[in-house]
Amino acid sequence: MRSIEHIYINGEFVVPCGEDRLDLINPATEEKIGDVRLGNEDDVKAAVAAAKRALPSLASSTKAERIDMLHSLRDTIAAKPDELVRTMTEEYGAPSYFTAFSVQNAASIFDVMAEAVAAYEFDRLVGKSAIRMLPRGVLAAITPWNSNFGFIATKLAHAIGSGSPLVIKPAEQSALQTEVFARRLHQAGLPSGVLNIVNGTGPIVGAALTNHPDVATISFTGSTQAAKIIQRAAIDGMKRVILELGGKAPTIIMQDADLDQAIPIALMSGFANSGQACVAGTRILAPRSRMTEVSEKLRVEIENLKVGDPQDPQVRIGPLASHAQWERIQTYIRLGVEEGATLLTGGTGRPTGLEKGWFARPTIFTGVTNNMRIAREEIFGPVLCLIAYDDEEEAVEISNDSEYGLQAYVLGSDQSRALRVAERLLAGRVIVNGAPHDPRAPFGGFKQSGIGREIGAYGLDGMLEPRAILTP
Ligand code: NAI
Ligand code: MG
Repeated sequence: MRSIEHIYINGEFVVPCGEDRLDLINPATEEKIGDVRLGNEDDVKAAVAAAKRALPSLASSTKAERIDMLHSLRDTIAAKPDELVRTMTEEYGAPSYFTAFSVQNAASIFDVMAEAVAAYEFDRLVGKSAIRMLPRGVLAAITPWNSNFGFIATKLAHAIGSGSPLVIKPAEQSALQTEVFARRLHQAGLPSGVLNIVNGTGPIVGAALTNHPDVATISFTGSTQAAKIIQRAAIDGMKRVILELGGKAPTIIMQDADLDQAIPIALMSGFANSGQACVAGTRILAPRSRMTEVSEKLRVEIENLKVGDPQDPQVRIGPLASHAQWERIQTYIRLGVEEGATLLTGGTGRPTGLEKGWFARPTIFTGVTNNMRIAREEIFGPVLCLIAYDDEEEAVEISNDSEYGLQAYVLGSDQSRALRVAERLLAGRVIVNGAPHDPRAPFGGFKQSGIGREIGAYGLDGMLEPRAILTP
């Protein structure tokens, strides 16, 4: 049992003004493992004031100084991964293959930003004008629970890279992870006020940040629903919002795909992060002529995806992050059946042998049409839809017929043909034939998946605004 009693303001761990508490639960056991004292509006005021004081000096820092800070952050995160991995497993329940990646990735995010800063042209000459890319001001970030370390690292990397002090409100149910991460970040020795972390709920701390007049930019990752509240609130303060939201990614299995290769990739993309991933490939599109073959292969391969204790290295799917998420998934599985889809595998309830913990049964629906709600809405759990298409044209059409446009996957033997299809998809990222993670690729979506991009120069552009000086 651990009680999180502090937030991080102006380079110090301080007791928040807020007095509400939230229980922290291990999702694999449903046991209470701690609680957190939540911040309130006064804590947001103190944090934003600290960030504002840090602005002039951070805004005028050199590339070399920013790169030094980013390297220190990388080093402190990379130094002892075990404690981070352990806390993420305990509080979030991600399987070990994913926690190991997450921690290593969080460190590499700082490195990638350091490279981007080195290459970025903060000073430019356009016509006769001298341009300097200036930070817009204090950056506020609000992040979710499905990859807490990665989100904090990404927002902080953009803050330092652009010279914008940060106030971040991580997901309240990730407070243990935030605490171990913050203690580590503190060791990087950033100037006071450059990083401020306030635990709290969306409607209280999130809203106070969104409404604060001294916040210039808001970087939000989470649900499309919360993003709309934030974006509306941002209008009065004329804040820029960068939004990384949900998805309903298509995975197109091409007519010529080798199913021995394609199906395991499709399943791992669909069930990534136990299905709690905005980038998850949750609509599998397969040629109608190969439907029986594809279904059969899916049924066989899903047996290889072990569900259970996230500490078991064989496990690929852990519990859902919370009871609310578990209920949400059950509701969608019932909805799929009501809508007339057929369960190829899975269904409601817990997998056999897992009586405790928020484990859902990995579920695949067949006979899904793209107008069903299970094909249109983000479910955010291990539930996939198999949709038939007649020809390539229709595969592209179904893929793009979505409110979302975050990520897409194409799997086919003829790579150039797969590439031609990839070029017709409206998504922030298109992954061809299981290409590995590229930490330098811009990230973000079209349509309801968001506004703006993160990573590298694309990420910096969103935090900066040009000032032109014209001389006679
Ligand atoms: P959420 O969008 O409500 O939470 C994300 C963050 O936003 C948290 O820090 C939360 O405290 C904050 N927040 C919530 N309401 C806010 C408000 N009014 N003002 C300011 N900040 C606010 O996501 P939630 O409710 O935890 O999950 C619900 C669904 O959202 C999921 O099932 C999934 O479909 C989607 N989601 C998508 C994510 C993604 O990576 N794109 C991440 C988390 C959720
Ligand atoms: Mg919510």
